[in-house]
Amino acid sequence: MTSHKELTIGLFGFGVVGEGLYKVLKQTSTLNASIKKICIKKENKKRDAPAELFTTDKNDLLNDDSINVIVEVINESEAAFEIVSVALKKGKAVVSASKKMIAEHLAELLKLQEETHTPFLCESSACASIPVIRNLEEYYDNDLLHSLRAVVNGSTNFILTKMFEDKIDFRDALMQAQQLGFAEADPALDVEGWDAVHKWVIILCHAYGIVSSSKEILFTGIQNINAGDANVGREKNYEIRLVAQAKKLLNGKIAAFVLPQFVQPNDLLAFVKNENNAVIIESGFADKQFFYGKGAGSFPTATAVLSDISALRYGYRYEYKKLYHQTPGILTTDFYVRIYLSFDEWNTIPREKFEWIEEWHSIVGRKYLVGVIHFGQLSQNNWWKENNTSLILTPDPIIEDIELRKLKKTSLKLAGV
Ligand code: HSE
Repeated sequence: MTSHKELTIGLFGFGVVGEGLYKVLKQTSTLNASIKKICIKKENKKRDAPAELFTTDKNDLLNDDSINVIVEVINESEAAFEIVSVALKKGKAVVSASKKMIAEHLAELLKLQEETHTPFLCESSACASIPVIRNLEEYYDNDLLHSLRAVVNGSTNFILTKMFEDKIDFRDALMQAQQLGFAEADPALDVEGWDAVHKWVIILCHAYGIVSSSKEILFTGIQNINAGDANVGREKNYEIRLVAQAKKLLNGKIAAFVLPQFVQPNDLLAFVKNENNAVIIESGFADKQFFYGKGAGSFPTATAVLSDISALRYGYRYEYKKLYHQTPGILTTDFYVRIYLSFDEWNTIPREKFEWIEEWHSIVGRKYLVGVIHFGQLSQNNWWKENNTSLILTPDPIIEDIELRKLKKTSLKLAGV
């Protein structure tokens, strides 16, 4: 695509993001981009745009040769994948916000981009208004990227803030997130961590060249977190965040997961409230960087879509440098984590799986422990999600083999062995 090319857009979806984009584009006349047609599912809904723009036939967009950009912001991931595949094969550049679709079809999308040499941009799919994907692609060299820690789901962060700071109950907090347009059409995607892990799959690809799926990354959401957990956190001066984390271990492999985590007040993620998202990047020479901004909502997401549209004017496409030009990262489960678990009955917890248990408490009706466990013991099956068990990582949870041996020695010495 030549620079400053005129962009004629076919837009799929006119929900929170689609309508936001329509409005934002109207106010950005300098972009030389216009929407020619909008494909929607339900014909008879009242919409705040001229009726002649809308169609329910996807081929009106896909078969129109004058449309050179497809923007796809629909909810159904299989339909979205089909649209994107056809568009790329027809040489139309694609901008997509569909994190579920991208995470579920990552390998196929990479192949399609290679085969068609056509841009597929998705900045809005992870952390909405925070420009993290292009940053990871262009700025950070793989070898220097030590770790990423992030809040990538606005709804769960919003719910945690409302529950534990404003003392609003879970259902009401979720309802507010829905009304404000942050939550997914199926809110279980947010609450159970699916949305966060989908975003993490995308980010891991751009950060470390890892082509994975939600099956390979251990995750959960905030569904099991209860008031007792928040009370324990408060006693220890911790807050709770749903944290997506990735760390390059000493052996060069990557530890990655999405789990609730206790964060200390001086942790930058403690600063992240409501629907905001944030990413902390630790790299070799630059030390620590903190990206912060709105991770959900109409305009913040539309802005990221707009930025991708703008990048297309200059023929920008991801090179996937970490994947194709460097040695791609390899995921590992061979490390240890320090976890807090709360539960109803001791006999539901496989204590023998732990390396050691540092604290155990029995409060009326609810019990908890803090212990160190091999990560593989969590990834092998879901015992830690069952029987009303709540798992929260402690601050700085990752323990590598070498550290574990040192810690073990110290604890044996302390025990006089
Ligand atoms: N449901 C998503 C969230 C929307 O809450 O973060 C933005 O991707």
